[in-house]
Amino acid sequence: MIDINQIVRPNILTLNPYTSARDAHTGREGVFLDANENPYGTLNRYPDPYQRKLKQKLAILKGVAQENIFIGNGSDEVIDLAFRIFCNPGEDKVLTFSPTYGMYSVSAAINNIELINLPLATNFQINMDELSPYLNDSSIKLIFICSPNNPTGNLIYSADIELILNQFEGIVILDEAYIDFANRDSLIGLLQSHNNLIVMQTFSKAWGLAAARLGTAYSSEEIIAIYNRVKPPYNVSAINQQAAIDALDNIKNYKEKLALIKTEKERLITKLKTIHRIKTIYPSDANFLLIEVTDANRLYKDLVAKKIIIRNRDKQIANCLRISIGTAEENEKLINALRTYA
Ligand SMILES: Cc1ncc(COP(=O)(O)O)c(C=O)c1O
Repeated sequence: MIDINQIVRPNILTLNPYTSARDAHTGREGVFLDANENPYGTLNRYPDPYQRKLKQKLAILKGVAQENIFIGNGSDEVIDLAFRIFCNPGEDKVLTFSPTYGMYSVSAAINNIELINLPLATNFQINMDELSPYLNDSSIKLIFICSPNNPTGNLIYSADIELILNQFEGIVILDEAYIDFANRDSLIGLLQSHNNLIVMQTFSKAWGLAAARLGTAYSSEEIIAIYNRVKPPYNVSAINQQAAIDALDNIKNYKEKLALIKTEKERLITKLKTIHRIKTIYPSDANFLLIEVTDANRLYKDLVAKKIIIRNRDKQIANCLRISIGTAEENEKLINALRTYA
C-alpha cells in the first residue's frame, strides 16, 4: 500500500474545506431556513452534495462501497481535480501514451504541469521498455492509461496495467469511459490491492447521458475523501443525479441499447470492408471505429459536405478517421455516402 498523503499537494493536505448547509445538517425532515434557498418551486433546494442515493445504486452495480465512489461533473472534472490534488504547478509532471484522449494534455496545460507523452507502439500497446525508467521518477505524479483507448479503440493489456501499478508509486488513472462496449471486464477489482488506482468511468457513453455530465471515479477511501474535500460543494445538479438514478433503474434499456450498438458496430465493419478506399479498419473494443484511408482530409471534407460528420484524426494518426457507431439509419447514410467516394 502506498502512503497517499506523500503524493498529495501540501496545500490540499492542510485545506480547510467549505462546509455547506447540507454538510452542517444532513437530516431531511424539518423546516429548512439554513441555505438561503427560495422556499418556492421544485428545483429551489440545493442537491445532495455527496449524491448518496445515486451512489447507493452504483455501489451495488459495481460491487464497491459508496465510500469508494466519486461523481464529477463529467470525467473532465475527475481529471482536473486529480491535477489539483496531486500536482504542484510548475514542478510536477504527469505521463500518458499518445495518441489518446485530448483532455489529459489540456488539463495538464491548464494546471501548468509538464506532460510526458510516450508514443504507443505500432499495435497501440504501451511500450513497456520505454516506460520502465519513468516508473521510478518521483516528480511524475499521475499516469493516465485510457483503455479502451480513444481514438485507437483497443484495450491496453491488463498485464501491463498491473505491472505499472506494481512498480509506480504515484497515482494511476485508468480511464474506462468505453469499457461497457469491450470484450473484457473492467479492472475495477484491482482497487482491492492498489490504493493508488483511480478507475474512471462515465454515464456519457453506454448509459447515453452525455448531456447530463456525470463522470465517475472509483478509488480507495482515502483518495475519494480528498476528492470530496476539494470538489465544488454542489458539483452534480439534482436534475443530473436523478437522470443517472433513472438510468440505473432501467438496466433493461441500458442492455438493449448496448446490444444494439454492438450489433450495429459489427454490421458497419462488414459494410466498411466492401469499400476499397478504406485501407484499414482497426479492431475496436469501443463504440467507435478507427479507419485508415488514402486521404483522410479529403474524405472528411467530402462527408461534411454531405452533412455526415465524423472525426478527423489525421493529426494524431496519419490518414485516420474516427467513426462513432450511430443508429442503423445513420450508419446506412454513412455507407451510402462512402460508396460514392472515388
Ligand atoms: C477516453 C475518454 N474519457 C472521458 C471522456 C469524457 O467523458 P465525460 O463526458 O464523462 O466528461 C471521453 C469523451 O469523449 C473519452 O473519450
